[in-house]
Amino acid sequence: MSNFIPITKPWLIDEDINAVSDVLKTGMLVQGQEVEKLEIAVADYLNVKQVIAVSNGTATMHIMLKVLGIGPGDEVIVPAFSYVATANVVELVGATPVFVDIDINTFNIDTKLIEQKITPRTKAILAVHEFGLAANAKEINNICKKHNLFFLEDAACALGASIENKKTGSFGQSASFSLHPRKAITSGEGGLISTNDEEFAYKCRILRNHGVDVTKGKTGFVEAGFNYRMTDFQAALVASQFNRFEEILSKKNEIAAHYFSEIKNSKVILPHIPQGYTHSLQSFHLLLEGITQNEAIEKLKLLGVGANYGAQCIPEVIYYKNKYGYNSKTDFPNALKAFDQGLVIPLFPQMQQEEINKVISAINQL
Ligand SMILES: Cc1ncc(COP(=O)(O)O)c(C=O)c1O
Repeated sequence: MSNFIPITKPWLIDEDINAVSDVLKTGMLVQGQEVEKLEIAVADYLNVKQVIAVSNGTATMHIMLKVLGIGPGDEVIVPAFSYVATANVVELVGATPVFVDIDINTFNIDTKLIEQKITPRTKAILAVHEFGLAANAKEINNICKKHNLFFLEDAACALGASIENKKTGSFGQSASFSLHPRKAITSGEGGLISTNDEEFAYKCRILRNHGVDVTKGKTGFVEAGFNYRMTDFQAALVASQFNRFEEILSKKNEIAAHYFSEIKNSKVILPHIPQGYTHSLQSFHLLLEGITQNEAIEKLKLLGVGANYGAQCIPEVIYYKNKYGYNSKTDFPNALKAFDQGLVIPLFPQMQQEEINKVISAINQL
């Protein structure tokens, strides 16, 4: 199995490792100026006023919902197909996630189905940019304006994605990015909140750090906050990778271009990228027809190629099934289809040409 190609692996070079050890040598092991530098660099890249670095991509959304005061009795619209964290954070603040099916072409929330799920209790739409393809931000913004809702972006996979050059993370009230090792740049565990709302950012910073407000030269515990801080050595690790982020994206794009032109198999539907959208290619997610997901995974494994399902049909996850008892076959048919028939195949920037060829050849043999 030594030549086995995994779905992804982090691309860390000596420079990144040196950046971490430089910080370690200073003895400054908690949040400090490296975190601040990272926040400024990412805010500049996204063209937003504020970025707040935190301990992971779930903490980001937990803070966002808390700052907005979303809690018991409130509803938050989420796509039925995503990583389970998208709905978990809504549960964690005591609100109710209201699932909406996805568009099977983009794997993102089907904006045509949102309005029928809005009630007087709805407070926000937490839209996911699934696999790194932006959700239809224009439509979501229109719906949010019409119904006075917050537009929150779960951009965990979508750093570097855009619609007509406007970056994901800058569409709504606030966005959340993950820096988990499956993402394009990583701090091991880590997350980033982006926003153009200064007051909102200020409150996020307080909640990130035990509820401490350090303004006006005084320190006071003004909220019951979390410890969701990122360490300085993690920030240095991310910042170092972020220095070559354009290179990371362009290498991913080159690999995807091979996949788009050379994968030819009637059992496989390639991802669709709508006009004007730039995909961050966090995951290259196929849809299978005429072969089961398990068959495909097993066959690819024998050929030395990793593959796995892409995301959950969340209403089918044990916790949500037990609590809400949805029938996904009728309630969320596309989310169920994407969960059952979706397949993520290897894509990471350091892939060699022969690995790319091996993946293509294996997919074409399905
Ligand atoms: C869509 C989505 N949301 C949220 C998360 C949670 O991020 P983290 O693992 O950094 O907490 C993930 C992680 O993969 C994700 O894919």
